[in-house]
Amino acid sequence: MKSNSQGKSRPRSIFICQQCGKESPKWLGRCPDCQVWNSFVETRVTSARAGVRTRCSGNSLQELCQVEGADFPRFDLGFSEVDRVLGGGLVPGSLVLVGGEPGIGKSTLLLQISAKLAESNKVVAYISGEESANQIKLRSARLGIGGKGIYFLSEPDLAAVLECLEGLSPGLAVIDSIQTMYLEDVAGTPGSISQVRECTWRLERWAKQNNVPLLITGHVTKEGAIAGPGTLEHIVDVVLYFEGEPFSSYRMLRSAKNRFGSTNEVGIFEMGDRGLAQVDNPSQVFLSSYKEGAIGSVVVPTLEGSRPLLIEIQALTTPNSFTPPRRIANGVDFNRLLLIIAVLTKRAGLKLYNHDIIVNVTGGLRVNEPAIDLGIASAIASSFLDSKPIAGLVALGEVGLNGELRGISRVERRIAEVVRLGFSSCLTPELPPGIKSEIKDSLRAADIRLIEASSVGEALRLGLTRETRAKDAAGRSRDSR
Ligand code: TYD
Ligand code: MG
Repeated sequence: MKSNSQGKSRPRSIFICQQCGKESPKWLGRCPDCQVWNSFVETRVTSARAGVRTRCSGNSLQELCQVEGADFPRFDLGFSEVDRVLGGGLVPGSLVLVGGEPGIGKSTLLLQISAKLAESNKVVAYISGEESANQIKLRSARLGIGGKGIYFLSEPDLAAVLECLEGLSPGLAVIDSIQTMYLEDVAGTPGSISQVRECTWRLERWAKQNNVPLLITGHVTKEGAIAGPGTLEHIVDVVLYFEGEPFSSYRMLRSAKNRFGSTNEVGIFEMGDRGLAQVDNPSQVFLSSYKEGAIGSVVVPTLEGSRPLLIEIQALTTPNSFTPPRRIANGVDFNRLLLIIAVLTKRAGLKLYNHDIIVNVTGGLRVNEPAIDLGIASAIASSFLDSKPIAGLVALGEVGLNGELRGISRVERRIAEVVRLGFSSCLTPELPPGIKSEIKDSLRAADIRLIEASSVGEALRLGLTRETRAKDAAGRSRDSR
């Protein structure tokens, strides 16, 4: 359907940046928004799109209090970790984009979800523009998936895909991946921004019209964003990122946008020989090789979404008088590390300027919250002073530029995890009386000592022992004599 004004106008061309989706009436050598060179591609504006824009849906204004049905109906996907990240299950008619680097396990996750749903008697359509039926069969054999109730189609033409889906009317459809799909009536090659955007837009409308949830995968660019981020993420209802370090078998599913729930939650998985398994007790897994009293190693109760997670932070400082000192941050923010080193140097008197410093979060995790500052500071100081942390120590607190320790959110939840895993001392900033009285009983019951400090210097004095590796070795050689 065309509006009159659109009908009269000649078909026109616009230029679209393939990186960020910016439109321009003329060709530009460099995108003024994302600064990428040579990214504009000429695209004909199709009448179909113009028609969509001017279409009237016939909806009318409604007073909010008259709107019925406050909550969304949802169904479980069979993986409680995924359901939690989605905000309590999948909403029918929603379009969920799962982004991640190639090889991270997106196809594996979606095939496993399909299998779980098929087991609970739902019809699932699995559409792949990347893999043939044989390849999927091999993968499902490896995952121990029989395939009953999963209907597979290897087809990159989205019009044909939607036609097949109409005929099947499935309970869930998976599209792997959005970058391989194309529409004949849209200019550009598959994966170009015009194709990706138009395909997503059609899928979104199809999902809503048929009330079928759609899970689509998207590859991320080198910069870590889904190709065409500016447009794609606005169209879909939920954006999930599947992440992990290449050397680690752990994977995290994070939500970056969710129209039906919070974006805080994180699901943790482990990739094994038979696909992805949920990690139900992540703290225990990430601390499995932690050795109490190790120099340069401190445990921190961090929060991943609403879930507390104990992680181990390791630091190593080595003298270097010849080249400018190097700082390496694995799993923590590099600028945050520089800030903490500066505070330790200026406010706690540690002469770190002629030392290389490496900080590592074990297990390949990446943690971004400021509550881990004190953990990083203690680990660096422990390595630099060659001094052990006190027995059973966990540390949490944000470090300010004056060396002061600042309060952190949801202390009760973090302490509950500390209690559960049996640590014996907890180094924190000074806590407000309300929170202290709230956690008092659980600390006493678990026999945990609360050590409050107002500054980094004080925290290091209280959290580190005078026992050094040198004394330790001397003690051992005396014993052996
Ligand atoms: P895949 O799901 O194809 O990744 P994506 O769709 O994100 O590109 O995952 C491929 C990787 O996962 C590959 O490197 C092999 C590994 N893998 C396992 O370790 N175990 C398994 O059971 C499966 C199916 C894959
Ligand atoms: Mg894949």
